[in-house]
Amino acid sequence: MQGQQTSTLALAVFSAVLGSLQYGYSLGVINAPQKVIEQHYGRSLGVLPEEPLLLSENGTGTEKQEVHPSVVMYWSLSVSIFSIGGVVSSFLVGFIGDLRGRVKGMLMVNVLAVVAGLLMVMAKMWKPHVMVIAGRCVMGFYCGLSSGLVPMYIGEIAPMAYRGALGTLHQLAIVTGILLSQVLGLEFLLGNDYYWPLLLGLSGAPAVLQSLLLPLCPESPRYLYIKRGMVEEVRSSLYRQQLFVALMMHLSQQLSGINAIFYYSTAIFERAGVTQPVYATIGVGVINTAFTMVSVALVDRAGRRTLTLIGLGGMCICAVAMTVGLVYLSVYSWMSYVSMLAIFLFVCFFEIGPGPIPWFIVAELFSQGPRPAAIALAGCTNWTSNFIIGMTFPYIEALCGSYVFTLFAVLLFGFTVFTYLRVPETKGKTFEEIAAVFKKGRKQTPGTKKTGTETGTGTSTELEQLKSD
Ligand code: GLC
Repeated sequence: MQGQQTSTLALAVFSAVLGSLQYGYSLGVINAPQKVIEQHYGRSLGVLPEEPLLLSENGTGTEKQEVHPSVVMYWSLSVSIFSIGGVVSSFLVGFIGDLRGRVKGMLMVNVLAVVAGLLMVMAKMWKPHVMVIAGRCVMGFYCGLSSGLVPMYIGEIAPMAYRGALGTLHQLAIVTGILLSQVLGLEFLLGNDYYWPLLLGLSGAPAVLQSLLLPLCPESPRYLYIKRGMVEEVRSSLYRQQLFVALMMHLSQQLSGINAIFYYSTAIFERAGVTQPVYATIGVGVINTAFTMVSVALVDRAGRRTLTLIGLGGMCICAVAMTVGLVYLSVYSWMSYVSMLAIFLFVCFFEIGPGPIPWFIVAELFSQGPRPAAIALAGCTNWTSNFIIGMTFPYIEALCGSYVFTLFAVLLFGFTVFTYLRVPETKGKTFEEIAAVFKKGRKQTPGTKKTGTETGTGTSTELEQLKSD
């Protein structure tokens, strides 16, 4: 009986995280084939000759050539429209999750992923810039929904002792997707003039598999509980403290600057004096995946709070080291190794805690009634800050030069302090016990300090403080 339960749980989690794989793939896929796709845009816009230009050995062959402003504009839109789709749809996660249940919700939204994949596979058949932009927009819309629905479903079906490890599998699937897209994007695989539509379109493939598997998965028992009307009232003022913690954790994930590394790593490695930046980028993808596995193993033992603290603190130190490396590169050539090492460690620390934990801790921090709405708000915060970093990083870099990572170092320091003061431990607690931690924080009258042991978190005074905020 227990064996059967375990295999049902494994099937359910595996099926769900196919949605996360898709998200990661879509995040990473757009980097490598930029130059070849720009040529197709140029030709369909009539600003480049019909014949493909020869690419140089490293696959980026058009460096010396000026890219036409309209191509630049359509390319930027192809990259960023994905996040805009996500910002809009992440807000609808609560509605979709409660409409017909978590499983049916994930099943329904797969239509979007398949449509998006088809639009991109067929990009060469009509105007590539229009097809890709439409495909990326629909895919972003899909990913905004799945990045909320998946952690919500897993959080609700996971047994308490494994809630952290199973929740981290969402991030593990994201980073696997990023790595897969980086590898397939190599020029000799799919990142070339001929296969790039397939490279982009493959982002829809996991949805097909997921659609076959989801009907075999059980609905979240907690959703069924809502349907029977046994759910507490949703009063937003009661949840202000949890919401503050949840949103800050998502902000810390994005404003740590992680995606500055992921979106611009090749350029950053070039600046740090690395000769084969494309392979260094894939190296980042491998490290990223390996350390997410470390987090899967640790999170239910070490706890969310400890791993987030170690992760954010470590990233802060790495951001300082990166700056030192970049600034002194012109004086000592060996400083390029310092920058490289700092980038790799930055990613390791991210995946230990600040990467995976915000995604699933929101489901833990909220009880059944407000959970979908909270996940929607947190997701929207995540997508919006991701979009802002993606859009502004090149300008910030132009402004700050080698000092660009000091900005992230300062932010990271602030988030580390915040986590120390306000984030409670959720490991090994039922949802009701977690809610009680916040209720205790609310009920306490100023001046009656409780010890950390009483709340189990060591943050009671801070929670009290939050109340008076
Ligand atoms: C997290 C972030 C995402 C980032 C990824 C990197 O999932 O939400 O923005 O790209 O980690 O591993």
